[in-house]
Amino acid sequence: MKQYLSIIILICTINLLKAQTRTVELLKDWKFSNYDYGAAFQEDFNDSKWDNVTVPHDWAAKGDFDFANDVQLTMVIQDGESKPRLRMGRSGALPYTGIGWYRTNYSVSSKNLEQKTQLLFDGAMSNAKVYVNGQYAGERPFGYISFHFDITKFLKAGDNTIAVRLENFNRQSRWYPGAGLYRKVSVIKTNKTHVKTWGTFVTTPSVSKKKAIVNLNLELVGSGDFIIKNEIFNLEGKIVATKKSAVVIKNNKTVKEEFEISKPNLWSLENPNLYTLKTTVLEGSTMIDTYETTFGIRTIRFEVDGFYLNDKKTRFQGVNMHHDLGPTGAAFHRELFVRQMKKMKAMGVNAIRFSHNPPAPEALDVCDELGLLAIDEAFDEWQIGKVINGYSIHFDEWAKTDLTDMIVRDRNHPSVIMWSIGNEIMEQYKLDPNNITDYLNKIVKSLDTTRATTAGFNSANNALKSGMAYTVDVAGFNYKPGIYGAIRKKHPNLKFYASETGGTVSVRNSYKFPVVFDTLHNKRGASLNTFVFPDGHPGNYESTQVPWGYPAVKEFASQEKNTSVYGEFVWTGYDYLGEPSPYHEAKSRSSYFAPVDFVGLEKDKYYLYQTQWKKDEEVLHFFPHWTWPDLNVKSFPVVCYTSYEKAELFVNGKSYGVQTKKPLSTLDFENTNINVEASGGGSWNLTKAYAIVWDDVVYEPGEVKVVAYNKKGKQVAEMTRVTAGEPHHITIEPEIKTINEGEVGVYVISVVDNNGNLCPHYNENMKIDVQGSASFLASGNGDPTNLQNLSKPERKFFNGQAVIFVQSNKKGNVDITTTSGNFKKTNHTLTVK
Ligand code: GAL
Repeated sequence: MKQYLSIIILICTINLLKAQTRTVELLKDWKFSNYDYGAAFQEDFNDSKWDNVTVPHDWAAKGDFDFANDVQLTMVIQDGESKPRLRMGRSGALPYTGIGWYRTNYSVSSKNLEQKTQLLFDGAMSNAKVYVNGQYAGERPFGYISFHFDITKFLKAGDNTIAVRLENFNRQSRWYPGAGLYRKVSVIKTNKTHVKTWGTFVTTPSVSKKKAIVNLNLELVGSGDFIIKNEIFNLEGKIVATKKSAVVIKNNKTVKEEFEISKPNLWSLENPNLYTLKTTVLEGSTMIDTYETTFGIRTIRFEVDGFYLNDKKTRFQGVNMHHDLGPTGAAFHRELFVRQMKKMKAMGVNAIRFSHNPPAPEALDVCDELGLLAIDEAFDEWQIGKVINGYSIHFDEWAKTDLTDMIVRDRNHPSVIMWSIGNEIMEQYKLDPNNITDYLNKIVKSLDTTRATTAGFNSANNALKSGMAYTVDVAGFNYKPGIYGAIRKKHPNLKFYASETGGTVSVRNSYKFPVVFDTLHNKRGASLNTFVFPDGHPGNYESTQVPWGYPAVKEFASQEKNTSVYGEFVWTGYDYLGEPSPYHEAKSRSSYFAPVDFVGLEKDKYYLYQTQWKKDEEVLHFFPHWTWPDLNVKSFPVVCYTSYEKAELFVNGKSYGVQTKKPLSTLDFENTNINVEASGGGSWNLTKAYAIVWDDVVYEPGEVKVVAYNKKGKQVAEMTRVTAGEPHHITIEPEIKTINEGEVGVYVISVVDNNGNLCPHYNENMKIDVQGSASFLASGNGDPTNLQNLSKPERKFFNGQAVIFVQSNKKGNVDITTTSGNFKKTNHTLTVK
């Protein structure tokens, strides 16, 4: 009997312990309409005819490209323009403007009504107004910020209606902003007493090999007498520190705890060790709330001579990233962001600047987990706008709240090392008359002093003259490799890095002959003869750029010489929707700058970055491809990006000689005049300092081979390209063979000859059919001028390739069939587990 009694007591205790803790539910299933129904906020509105959608959802990514969607007559001062010009495709040419309504039901028990319920949006694009059971619950204009409301008082037992109205304005963005509930929406149910949402702040004020001090600042909401238990778990799930204390809460309370962890596992780029702090709120023995905070133990220092991570000088090998994920649009899919980041890491990237707005929260989790540094950036505009309906119209009312929420949400991420308060802010040009730099900087400092503040300046002189560059802890300069030396000389104590670099334009597998460098520049160093090819397909020799741009190698050369510059962030890691500069005239709808194209396929310069940033890796890559039936020149240069000392080129067995890179003795683009800010263009001299080049190679169909040699002259690697025959069949390759249920799968599709060689001129259409455990989601081909709808199951090949995205929906195999002309191919090798 006694035994039974104790079992009953044990069961009751377990029930008691389990009672009333926090639950977080994702709201995935919504009804959606693009029509502005005036009554759609009301509880009994009939939405049965609306579309069923799954959130995250981007309503515009599925629409048709139409340049009428984003006509912008505008003068872009930061691009050096002095009169307005017509731009089309600048924000992606998709139908993102207008109104979108989302509605869903949420069921609540009468017991829940005594608890607290919060609605958390990771981001809603944009001008969100939220209604619960027909009652206005709150709003948030900024589309990139996470926000939450307490909706308890609007709820009733049974079914509840949540309605969200979003509105995007024409000319609200300089790039594609996305549209809709494009990030997660969750309902958080807690007890009345609970840990505040984003209410923990973990810092590590003292770190050594022997021990780390970990401080917790914990904000609690509620009232009563409680016990707070905090446990720190290491990656293996072992408890490494614990604290318990009794607290009396009256409405709100902040609790501070200090922990000591012996022999901490530091978070680093190579070993991104994470810890989890689990906070449990107990009332007697009843568990009232649990809250987990992931953090890392690492030190960061910002010195005049460089940035230090765990006392090791670490230069930024960074890329800027806009938030769209390619053909699937702005809807956030963690696995697609992981795909992007893995490709970036493999290129040698160690840092991401989230340009120019706060990312999805999971993006920072991924940086924490993969070992990538991050700059979390708040704004692209302050009070003075760049586009007429941009953030400047909200700045006065919302900037403090938005900036605060970004920091409070993200300040436990070890990856985040700097808070950026703005990019190319127009106030630079007026020397910041309202001292907004100081205002925002102080907001950041009131919330976190463990990281540096920064901003990206495109007018170095104005930023220095106005003091803006000194108000932030570390200045970022965009596109200034020509004057790092001059800046250092005049400003010996300034801490700075290159927040945007590059600016050459290219599309995958395209080459334009003859190769001519764009070399005519104005007094400020901006390029005057920007080449614009009528087909919208600039080549890969790094020879053409936007007026303010220059090739990657110029930045390498300047960074190598100016070693106190913290490093660089390339504009951008991936091509993105919008900003097809310099192809403004209703030609293109996505950008051209990156080493990886819009669908995630590498361009040639990917391997150039790899040789510079992964010095220990063995890289050998050359271009162009070797299939030129209609060549307009007799010969062209062959360029090889390699980590090896020397290489020899053979065309059909005939040697073109052994070549090496030719390091520069002086940097002729450097300017002692600090006012010459742009760094216009490239040259063969610059290219040859970082690549092996054979100048005049006569094309003959057949085989071209590059053989690499080490210092001792021993042959160590080779790469061959052959002239492709007639297109013969399609190949389908899933990038990853096994994905989890609910995840997106990615296939690379190519057309090859009968020996498997890519046919680089194959541009025909393909029909796509997806069956089994997934459905078709989107596709693309990396051509910015391709205007086929991203979400319809057909796609033209571009230079022989295309990429297809499928949405898995159950366990099993995915069957995909692609048909192009007489070619048909089926693949079953993707498994959903
Ligand atoms: C910069 C700007 C970026 C992007 C880039 C294109 O001036 O900060 O957002 O527009 O130019 O080169």
